[in-house]
Amino acid sequence: MSLTNLHPMLNIAIKAARLAGSVINRASLDIEKVAVQSKGANDFVTEVDEHAERVIIETILAAYPGHGILAEESGRTLGAQDSEFVWIIDPLDGTTNFIHGFPVYAVSIALAFRGVVQQAVVYDPNRNDLFVASRGRGAFLNERRLRVSKRLRLADSLIGTGFPFRKGDNFKRYMKMFEEISQQCAGLRRPGAASLDLCYVAAGWYDGFFETGLSPWDIAAASLIITEAGGLVGNFTGESDFLNQREIVAGNPKVYGQLVGILAPYTRVIKEDDVKPTSEGYVPAPAADATDAFLADAGVPAAPAVPAAKPVRKAIKVAGPRTPRDRQ
Ligand code: IPD
Ligand code: CA
Ligand code: CA
Repeated sequence: MSLTNLHPMLNIAIKAARLAGSVINRASLDIEKVAVQSKGANDFVTEVDEHAERVIIETILAAYPGHGILAEESGRTLGAQDSEFVWIIDPLDGTTNFIHGFPVYAVSIALAFRGVVQQAVVYDPNRNDLFVASRGRGAFLNERRLRVSKRLRLADSLIGTGFPFRKGDNFKRYMKMFEEISQQCAGLRRPGAASLDLCYVAAGWYDGFFETGLSPWDIAAASLIITEAGGLVGNFTGESDFLNQREIVAGNPKVYGQLVGILAPYTRVIKEDDVKPTSEGYVPAPAADATDAFLADAGVPAAPAVPAAKPVRKAIKVAGPRTPRDRQ
């Protein structure tokens, strides 16, 4: 794949991402004027997130009116509700950085078909860097083919992460992982835009990445960019069910394996054996945590209780059902 011979759906994603990037760049020239609202403690949305999201969705639906949309700010309210094609959109990933003028944020757009990501764009408007991938056709940064790093040992690796920061997040659990990994790698970084962090794994700049509490729009596009660059992405037990699991680990194949070895005991993915039948045939759902409330605000349907009879570990899904547990 070269950037002159792109899948038509990837072309639309690129057009939408660049338009959103222009909205973001224009606003960044006078950041003091940007109206900021709080979605919760340390969780912000600006008029720029909303404007960028509108531009992206208009561009996509003008080309593909029958497709579905899952976007951070408008949830599933726009687009078709029953399409097998769903665009997963984060119009501005790294809003806190943007508000402060810290130049690390991006637009993230993925297209999933039957729950599997097929096309992906992450656009960094500060550097005019365009990360793209089409399933089976490789990953690119601008015109350059991406490959993950060749580093073999975690001890030599630079690892990206994201810290918990919302009220209700499980800080203690994260600090234990942080303590273990920071002592076993060459360096840990937290720039603050998960979509870019993951693209940095694809580019070989990081050797691995882990974070908890991320949503599908933070990770959908970049996860395909990583696998197309020869990397691996999964949940903390190393399985491919990560998009809705609020835990993600990625890396080149060697470092990924070493990270999974450390992170597996911290997983929150429910195993089949943990699912206990009740008289109603369901595991009772615990009280929703802060991230569940956040998803509900964003229009993503709440996770149903998990049917006791069905296996919980399944292939990647676009928007749930999510397993009922403390997520961080
Ligand atoms: C956030 C960024 C950040 C991650 C947060 C995300 P937002 O996205 O990706 O790196 O740590 O969990 O919510 O809210 O700026 O789009
Ligand atoms: Ca985000
Ligand atoms: Ca966002």
